[in-house]
Amino acid sequence: HIRQVLGRDGDLAGRKIVVSAGGTQEPVDPVRVITNRSSGKMGYALAAEAAAQGARVTLISGPVNLPTPQGVERLNVETAVQMHTAALELAPQAALFIGCAAVADYRAANAAEHKLKKTDDQDTLTLTLVKNPDIIADVAALPDGQRPFVVGFAAETQDIERYAQDKLARKGLDMIVANDVSQQGLGFGSDDNAALLLWRTSDGSDRLVAPPQPKTQLAALIVRHALTHLSLTSSGA
Ligand code: CTP
Repeated sequence: HIRQVLGRDGDLAGRKIVVSAGGTQEPVDPVRVITNRSSGKMGYALAAEAAAQGARVTLISGPVNLPTPQGVERLNVETAVQMHTAALELAPQAALFIGCAAVADYRAANAAEHKLKKTDDQDTLTLTLVKNPDIIADVAALPDGQRPFVVGFAAETQDIERYAQDKLARKGLDMIVANDVSQQGLGFGSDDNAALLLWRTSDGSDRLVAPPQPKTQLAALIVRHALTHLSLTSSGA
C-alpha cells in the first residue's frame, strides 16, 4: 500500500495498463475442465509493479489462488473466449497490454450439459477440441489509435529463442518475454523466474538475458523495459 501511495506520481502515473494472468479453464462437462499449471504469480507481480509506479491497472485473471494486488482492478474470467472479449474491450483504452495468461489453445467443441459417465465397455474417451481465438494477436492487430504497446510471453521447453522470435513476429508483438518452463524451481508455480526479453527495433530485434530472480524483481525489469520502448514508440494512452 505504501509503495502504491509513493508511486502515485511515478513513471506510469495516469497510464492505463491491462495485464492478463493465470490459466484459462475450458469446460468439458459441469464438473471437469481443461486447464494448465499457471499459478498467475508472474502476471500478478506485473500488475502490482505497474500499480506501484502509478499506473491504472486492470488485471484480467483466470481462476488463481492469489489476492488482488493493492490498487489494481481485477476482472475474473474462466475461459479463453471470456478473456478474449474482456481484452478486446479494455485494450483500446490502454497504453500497454501485457499478455501473461496461459491461454488454452483449444476448448471442447461441445461441453456436455450433464456429467459424462464412464461405462464398462468404454476404455477410451475421445474429445473433439476446437481452436480458441489468439487473444494477444487480436490485441496486436487493433488499428492505430486503439493499439497499445503489446508485450507477450512465451513459455517454452526447448529452442526458446527461435520459438520466441517466431511468436514475436507471427503475433505482431512489440516485445516478448520468453522463459524455459522445464527448469526446476523456475517458471510455472514457483516464486522465481529467468527470462529472455526480445523486442523489435527498426532494423530487426534486440535481446536481454534476465538471470534467475524473484518474479517481483523480474516484473520490475519487464515494466521498465516496456516503458522505455513504449515511450520511444508513442506518447501512450
Ligand atoms: N496467447 C493468447 N491467446 C491464445 C494463446 C496464447 O493471447 N489463444 C498468448 C499468451 O498469453 C502469451 C503468448 O500468446 O502472451 C504465447 O503463449 P504460448 O502459450 O507460449 O504460445 P502459443 O500461441 O499457445 O503457442 P504454442 O502453444 O505453439 O507454443
